Amino acid sequence: MTRKIDIFDTTLRDGEQSPGASMNTEEKLVIARKLLQLNVDVIEAGFPISSPGDFESVRRIADLAGDHATVCALTRAVEKDIDAAADALRYAKRPRIHTGIGVSKSHIYDKLRIDEATCIERAVKAVKYARNYCEDVEFYAEDAGRSDYEFLAQVIEAVIKAGATVVNIPDTTGYSLPDEFGRRIKFLMDNVDGIQNAKISVHCHNDLGMATALSLAGVANGARQIECTINGLGERAGNTAMEEVVMGIRMHGEELDAHTDVNTREFVRASRLVSSITGLSVQVNKAIVGANAFAHSSGIHQDGVLKKRDTYEIIDPAEVGAGQSQIVLTARSGHAALRHRLEELGYEFEGKELDQVYEAFLNLADRKKEVYDEDLESLINERDRNENAVYTLEAVQISCGFPLTPTATVTLRNAADQVVTVCECGTGPIDAAYKAVDKIVQVDNDLTDFVVQSVTRGIDALGEVTIRVTAPDGEVFTGRGSDGDIVVSSTRAYLNALNRLISSKQAAR
Ligand code: KIV
Ligand code: ZN
Repeated sequence: MTRKIDIFDTTLRDGEQSPGASMNTEEKLVIARKLLQLNVDVIEAGFPISSPGDFESVRRIADLAGDHATVCALTRAVEKDIDAAADALRYAKRPRIHTGIGVSKSHIYDKLRIDEATCIERAVKAVKYARNYCEDVEFYAEDAGRSDYEFLAQVIEAVIKAGATVVNIPDTTGYSLPDEFGRRIKFLMDNVDGIQNAKISVHCHNDLGMATALSLAGVANGARQIECTINGLGERAGNTAMEEVVMGIRMHGEELDAHTDVNTREFVRASRLVSSITGLSVQVNKAIVGANAFAHSSGIHQDGVLKKRDTYEIIDPAEVGAGQSQIVLTARSGHAALRHRLEELGYEFEGKELDQVYEAFLNLADRKKEVYDEDLESLINERDRNENAVYTLEAVQISCGFPLTPTATVTLRNAADQVVTVCECGTGPIDAAYKAVDKIVQVDNDLTDFVVQSVTRGIDALGEVTIRVTAPDGEVFTGRGSDGDIVVSSTRAYLNALNRLISSKQAAR
């Protein structure tokens, strides 16, 4: 039997650090449900001291996970952070506190402004303090990828003695080359006294596009846990993509002496879910989950694949959930079929809520021949976006064409239930609609990105608009909207981004 490699998912923590990817607690719970379906070993649910929302997410995800996965909360090597993490994990069946400190010269001298001895002292103190609350304590040696080998070994030895059960060796800046990173892990395996008492974890960023290769090099040299995210979301260029490392291990299990327990058939659904919640699209040529990952275009390739699939395909698409869905949803489908499909997508609805979703589904099914998974995800997201929204769209009407001046009449309802209608002209219909929204909402922002794509195939496909706005303080907010009419999708997307901006500023007050 090969070594079991633990999969530690950090989509809800490091992934959420992608600009514009912030999620509310309900959205995090939907993703956590999908992570449980994927059968990951550890869910890093948040950084509880950072905000009441993160605290609440960790608490509720711990409750949801029960004993199906370890739930982990991040802290700095600071007592008040550890207290907050322990509090958020109070009722978790399998809690883990993840604490740590920077260990490279740059982090020690330039960021923390301390010396090496103090760094070790703080690390040991934090681990001991966390162990008072929790038997499972993971220590991260931030920027380990650029640290001195001997010093890193000293820190790791000290924290294992202090009670760390997992030691995380992050390449925080994505600087390393795979060979060198592998040597670093081997150095720790060979030179740290007591290394057999802890698991080595790797947490690699993708700044040079090598996060997957780095993580696998870590595994080849002794790591037994990989930290990763769905779609490779994460700070800057992102983190290691779960779907890539897990399939890498599956393809090369014997050479790596490794396997995982992940349910790979959920990868494509998980990818779409995370993309639709965060508003961050997946590039079409993304490995494993991109729209083109199993598409063969050249005649020579098509001929080969038709003769025998593995001439040009190393993975059976069904293994990662890239096959077509089996149940075709149409206007004739009932509650049971809809609920079954929604559950497979990671959503749970009962009673009145299910009735509401069913009604919206029928509405859509009347306009479309078939309702695909992507349509359902859009429909649920549209519904979630409207819940708790500060402004909701009541109506948008456009007049445009040659030689008319594009004019939009927009009606919004605010949280106090007041309805306001405004009419504005613009350079095009969307510009006119946005000007009308601005006139009502009056929030300073810069529109920095605007992308329209069709959610599914065919002329009747929903058009989904993703936009990004930047607040005056530089914070970025993503908005998404979908509808058969792209002016309506665009207006919804803009309103969704402004609602997020307003709510976040109100919460910070
Ligand atoms: O990249 C990093 O070093 C991290 C740590 C907080 C684990 O995200
Ligand atoms: Zn990270």
